[in-house]
Parts: sequence; structure tokens; C-alpha cells
Amino acid sequence: MDEALEALRRGLPVLVHDDEARENEVDYVIHASRVTVDHIYEMRMLAGGLICYAMPLQAGRLLGLRYGYEIIASIPELAPLASRTLGYGDQPAFSIWVNSVRARTGIRDRDRATTIRELDRVLSMIVDGRVGEARRYFLENFVAPGHVPILLGRRLRERRGHTELSLHLAMLAGMTPSVVVVEMLSKGDVLSVEEAGRLAREKGIPLVEGSEIIDLVERLGEDL
Ligand code: 5RP
Ligand code: CA
Ligand code: ZN
Repeated sequence: MDEALEALRRGLPVLVHDDEARENEVDYVIHASRVTVDHIYEMRMLAGGLICYAMPLQAGRLLGLRYGYEIIASIPELAPLASRTLGYGDQPAFSIWVNSVRARTGIRDRDRATTIRELDRVLSMIVDGRVGEARRYFLENFVAPGHVPILLGRRLRERRGHTELSLHLAMLAGMTPSVVVVEMLSKGDVLSVEEAGRLAREKGIPLVEGSEIIDLVERLGEDL
């Protein structure tokens, strides 16, 4: 855990395994303020999943964001799609997808790095209490739909996805709740925890269990 917290502070990746009884997936996580073009490239080549930006639900609400399922449920013709979830159960953390206005097409490594750094800038304004400025900046500097999904994290006692685990890990590191997560995939499947463990040792990337994050948050009483 100490190594993971130090890695995040230094702008290095951490691997997070949620729970065998949930997705049973390992995500590659970095703090959004430290994202570079090289990170996005590594996330594509080494991890391979969906590159998402996560912020707390309260921050998203201040920007007027909703969960994707809330938006879909508000369209009567599409509402049935939002009334069901996948097998492991919890409601998806997805909100809308955005691009920075400075992106070229949105998908390129440099575009996604820019979009994420810009989202992190908005989150920092909110954390600093500059909510009006954050709202204006968000509306003036992004396009939707885009290529970076925004995930909205709940309290750990409400949901224990990679979204929440990673946001709490960032806070435990003394950083803002503003992270990038992407699933570690293999051909046709996800990377198993064992394979992820081997890769972590080989590359010197700390791997933490969701339960370790939950225990520490409970001990410190620092739930979002
Ligand atoms: C977005 C996802 C992934 O599972 C990601 O790990 C974040 O979501 P969650 O909080 O559900 O684990 O659905 O690709
Ligand atoms: Ca998920
Ligand atoms: Zn996940």
C-alpha cells in the first residue's frame, strides 16, 4: 500500500484488483494530474481496456453531470435499456463522454491526455471552491459526445468499483480525487489477478487489493 501511494504521488501507475465476487478485474490507475501522452500509449498497449477519467459524484453534480443511465432513463423509448444491469450487479459509473476543444479528433494519445488534463483542471477548481469558474470552464472547453468517458464515484459504502477504489486511493495519497483507470485485458478475456501479479513484479508496478483500500479508508474514516 505504501508503495502504491508513493507511486501515485510520483505520477507512476498502480494496479488495483476490485474483488473476486465483483468484476474480478485489475485496472491500471494513475492520477489524472500526472497523465502524459506516454501514459495513454502505455494504457493502450499494456492494459488495452477502456481509458476512463473518474471524479467524485458530488463534483460531477456541481457541473450538472448525470449518470448515463439517468440520461437514458429520461428518454421513454430507451428507458428499458437503463432498467437492467450486468450480472455482477452494480449501476455503471458512466456519465457522459467528452473531448477537450483543443483535441484534433479526440482519440489520439495526445488528444486523450489533453482531455484528461483539462478535466483534472476542472476538478481542481472545484476542490479549491471555485465552483462557478469550474462550471464556466467546463462548458466552454469541452465537446460532447467525445472519446473520454467520465466516471462518477460514490461513497465506498455505496459502491466498490475501480472508480471508487481508485478515487479513494488518490485521497489516501493526499491527492485530489481525480484519476484515470483502464482495465488490464488479455486476448479474449481480462488479465487474471495472477497474470497481473506477475506483470506487476516484472515491471515494478504496485498491485493493491480493493479490500486493502477499503480497510484503510474505514480505519481512517475518510469515505467520500
Ligand atoms: C469502465 C468500467 C470498468 O469496470 C472500470 O474499472 C471502472 O468501473 P467500475 O467502477 O465499474 O469498476 O466499467 O471501463
Ligand atoms: Ca464496470
Ligand atoms: Zn472496473
